[in-house]
Amino acid sequence: MAATEKQPIAGAGPLNGILTWIDQRFPLMQLWREHLAEYYAPKNFNFWYYFGSLALLVLVLQIVTGIFLAMHYKPDAAQAFASVEYIMREVPGGWLIRYMHSTGASAFFIVVYLHMFSGLMYGSHRRPRELVWIVGMVIYLSLMAEAFFGYLLPWGQMSYWGAQVIVNLFDAIPLIGPDLALWIRGDYVVSDATLNRFFSFHVIAIPLVLLGLVAVHIMALHEVGSNNPDGVEIKKVRDPKTGRPVDGIPFHPYYTVKDTLGAVVFLIVFSVIMFFMPELGGYFLEYNNFIPADPLKTPSHIAPVWYFTPYYSILRATTEDFMWVLAVAVIALAALIVLSVRRARVKAGVAAGTAVLLFGFFNFDPKVWGVVLMGVAVLIFFFLPWLDRSPVKSIRYKGSLYKAALAIFVVAFVVLGYFGTQPVTTGATIMAQIFTLLYFAFFALMPWYSKMGKTKPEPERVTW
Ligand code: HEM
Repeated sequence: MAATEKQPIAGAGPLNGILTWIDQRFPLMQLWREHLAEYYAPKNFNFWYYFGSLALLVLVLQIVTGIFLAMHYKPDAAQAFASVEYIMREVPGGWLIRYMHSTGASAFFIVVYLHMFSGLMYGSHRRPRELVWIVGMVIYLSLMAEAFFGYLLPWGQMSYWGAQVIVNLFDAIPLIGPDLALWIRGDYVVSDATLNRFFSFHVIAIPLVLLGLVAVHIMALHEVGSNNPDGVEIKKVRDPKTGRPVDGIPFHPYYTVKDTLGAVVFLIVFSVIMFFMPELGGYFLEYNNFIPADPLKTPSHIAPVWYFTPYYSILRATTEDFMWVLAVAVIALAALIVLSVRRARVKAGVAAGTAVLLFGFFNFDPKVWGVVLMGVAVLIFFFLPWLDRSPVKSIRYKGSLYKAALAIFVVAFVVLGYFGTQPVTTGATIMAQIFTLLYFAFFALMPWYSKMGKTKPEPERVTW
């Protein structure tokens, strides 16, 4: 049917005329139906399904508050710190906008970590939602970049020295490292040039990428349909007359109402933090960042913001002694793979790869391996859809081994996060090393333990 032949929209009330006019020129109603009114979502969504929509809410919050901050902020090394103080003290409502944005940054990571955890619990990363997960991971990487670039902007001591430490990590890469670090900074040290480029990435480049990725994320999800706490595919059982999934309910109004409740509760908690404890004990806003950046004075203790500290801990745990432990772990994993696979070529490949890795372990600086390990700790999430070999998706029906592994992983992530905020001591380093091993064991051993243990039979239909 040609666009102009579309029928008037029933039930649109006084807006009928305008909506029909738009709909004859733009697929408005088609989008509304496909993604909201006739998007059939499983009827058993629970608490964990709030976090996707909350992530969307925080994204909007960050963009809107960011626009207002950018009206008064000066991306200039000589003025940046003072311009933030000006926003806090002189601009009407400036303190509110700034605290919304700084609290929003931490809230974004809390929400996204819980959103990822719910995926892990219910097997939402697995077939057919691998692409939803992969796009989610690209969002996560972009979010990390966005937070990193944004953190330099207040030009406090932590902004400055944090950026210095992180950019210097690239320096450790063999051959190209020093040139790469210089290229990122635009100078030999973090300087005005660095601030300018970080500003432009933070306010336009990465937000654009994020918005595009979120659209792709949701389109990919709606193509295959949402998972649910039972991990069963609702599309398998359809009403013979309508063809609709019998366990599905229209997203609008059922889940728009549910998500509104989630948003209200979230905003209450958010407001309590923002109004009464915006620094949250130095976790949301580090105390050292209330001191202007001083390139001549290194703070005695430099730590990134809490959402990066699990990875920072892994970086610091990679000492010379730890390389021996890593070598033993790699040999043990290689032996396990060789014993599990049949093809001689794969066995030879694993043996050769292990030999190269072991050579590298003792011929390159442990600092380089710290950077590698930190990168692997993030990137390994991409492979989860293929590492998990359990016959069932949801934790509700998985064996106790998987449940224990997921619990240990969460503890490891939190403990590493904690130690990443603390100064280095021998005891803290040993703890970080133990939990680094547990962190990687969760992924490396998953193909085996996810198949072991007694699973419960997955139901045909969702339970609620
Ligand atoms: C800006 C960040 C993000 C936004 C706005 C966002 C948004 C959403 C929304 C609205 C949903 C549907 C509702 C729900 O299932 O909760 C969803 C589902 C999903 N997201 Fe995200 N997401 C983000 C980041 C991520 C990340 C970092 C990952 C994982 C690496 C991820 C993985 C998933 C998965 C697997 C689903 C399907 C859940 C299911 O069907 O059970 N998302 N996302």
